[in-house]
Amino acid sequence: MKQPVILAIDTSCDETAAAISKGRRILSNVISSQINIHKKWGGVVPHLAKQAHQDKIKPVVIKALKNSRLRTWSKIDAIAVTIGPGLAPALEIGLAFAKDLAKSKKKPLITINHMEGHLLSPFALNAKGNGPLQSIEFGTPRESSELKELFPAIGLLVSGGHTQLVLVKKIGDYKLLGETLDDAAGEALDKLAKMLRLGYPGGPIIEELAKKGDPDKIELPVPIRYSKDFNFSFSGLKTAALYKIREREGFGIPRANSESKQLSKQYTYNMCAAFQQAIAISLTTKLSRAIKEHNPKSILLGGGVFSNLYIRSQVRSAIKPFNLPIYLPYSKKLYTDNAAMITVAASFQFNKGQAFVKDLDKLDRKPNLSFT
Ligand code: KG4
Ligand code: ZN
Repeated sequence: MKQPVILAIDTSCDETAAAISKGRRILSNVISSQINIHKKWGGVVPHLAKQAHQDKIKPVVIKALKNSRLRTWSKIDAIAVTIGPGLAPALEIGLAFAKDLAKSKKKPLITINHMEGHLLSPFALNAKGNGPLQSIEFGTPRESSELKELFPAIGLLVSGGHTQLVLVKKIGDYKLLGETLDDAAGEALDKLAKMLRLGYPGGPIIEELAKKGDPDKIELPVPIRYSKDFNFSFSGLKTAALYKIREREGFGIPRANSESKQLSKQYTYNMCAAFQQAIAISLTTKLSRAIKEHNPKSILLGGGVFSNLYIRSQVRSAIKPFNLPIYLPYSKKLYTDNAAMITVAASFQFNKGQAFVKDLDKLDRKPNLSFT
């Protein structure tokens, strides 16, 4: 099997990203973050994201080529691009740029579902060929016996835009088991940080502050924890936290002294810890339920929220009784949005003849793309 050299672009949300891989080996992974642009608004502002992608896409792609040390376009076998899901104005920029590149450099174009990128991110290897799933030799006679030990797998994808449980029968054959009915887990963390005026993005800040807090000092609900499906819900948790914070600050309840109170540092720490714990309970409960029902051979974890060591360790201990291998990406840069995971997904598609886009001019972004 050919180990194609692929250049991928991802502009699904607020990172302008380009990467190059040879097969599963990541040769370069460039990410231009827009955090500084969006942080004063406490969340991603679509038209500012679009403008920043427009400004950054070209330098980011050039840097990805330079960092890969390939030097010339002739070494690239294909261009890949995220087609969805994501913010429409943001996706548009990456897609238009990728189409132009495919035309001008005369390369085939492969479109990738951003969530498939997160799902397959544990398959990425570093430039030396090291990574969690390095022993699998795709394209050799051993491949099928090695993959029999891996699949079916269950993927848990937890990011700022999505929270999904996916049954992976094999690479390219997915079934969405459940997803969030409202906010994504990362979005809920970002909103809590906003309520507590901690900054953006909330996840990493909350992880730090939670270390000093006691999660059992504040009682928060874990919505639909006991429902028999594989869905999640985080908006009730967010609202419950908001009411507790408001009450603590003295808003909405008549007081002799009507001034609002400053939250104590310890209260903030406890709230971060309790909120993070509620998210972990929700994720582990539904993951365990999915394991019991579908009996997978392994677990794949992906998405920005898994940068969180507490959430990761809770997932590990909750599924310990099942004695299943858990695979996560080899580097932190592969958890949050990046294009390296898109090159990996594209490299699996490359060897299937029908993967290339036939009519570039008819191609449009798919902001609501989902697994079936
Ligand atoms: O995967 P990602 O970059 O974006 C989407 O595809 O949506 O994930 C971003 C999300 C944000 O909500 C951010 O707060 C969260 O991942 N995140 C974290 C941590 N680092 C990033 N959440 C919890 N703990 C972290 N250390
Ligand atoms: Zn993402």
